[in-house]
Amino acid sequence: MHIHNLSQQNSVLNTFISEIRGVTIQKDSMRFRRNIERIGEVLGYEMSKSLSFKNSEIKTPLASCSMDLLENDIVLCSILRAGVPLHNGLLNYFDTAENAFISAYRHHKENPESFEIIVEYLACPDLENKTLILADPMLATGQSMVATFEALKPFGIPKEVHLVSVIGAQEGVDYVNKTFNKKTHLWIAAIDETLNDKGYIIPGLGDAGDLAFGKKLQQ
Ligand code: URA
Repeated sequence: MHIHNLSQQNSVLNTFISEIRGVTIQKDSMRFRRNIERIGEVLGYEMSKSLSFKNSEIKTPLASCSMDLLENDIVLCSILRAGVPLHNGLLNYFDTAENAFISAYRHHKENPESFEIIVEYLACPDLENKTLILADPMLATGQSMVATFEALKPFGIPKEVHLVSVIGAQEGVDYVNKTFNKKTHLWIAAIDETLNDKGYIIPGLGDAGDLAFGKKLQQ
């Protein structure tokens, strides 16, 4: 897998990440959502450099010029609900992308430290020969990303697959690295050390879904 960890180079992205992590500033949910969206825009911009371009003639009011423009048929798939702001950020840059949504959540059984990933709702266009972008803001164990990819299989075989995440734990990155095809790309804004016993990324940021959309009752 090609892993692109954007935090290896200092940029304004550090500011956005510090604001979603910071325990005071992250409580402003509108700002939290907008920062995730901005991170999605930066990740999308960086990813666009690896996509295919084809030459096109553009007519200005004064003359014609030739430009290389994106030619990929993109399908952007996000995991509800925390994935919504990241999805919007990516969609801001990939204007014509088709969209897929899936609900995948952690179901804690009797032991709060163990859970399984339940996939329920799924809406997806044809994926055959398209560029699939799978977006999940928090790459904790990597199990949701893999469960989502498995659930998408009946919709066709994509030409290429790009995973997009805001913060990952090393363990989750290692898991997707060994599970996905070698040609898959991972675009990620930061990789943290570890997971706690409830599967949260440490230091991470807490619960991305709750911070973006409010606390939920546990099922
Ligand atoms: N999901 C979150 O929202 N936060 C984590 O740390 C891990 C998964």
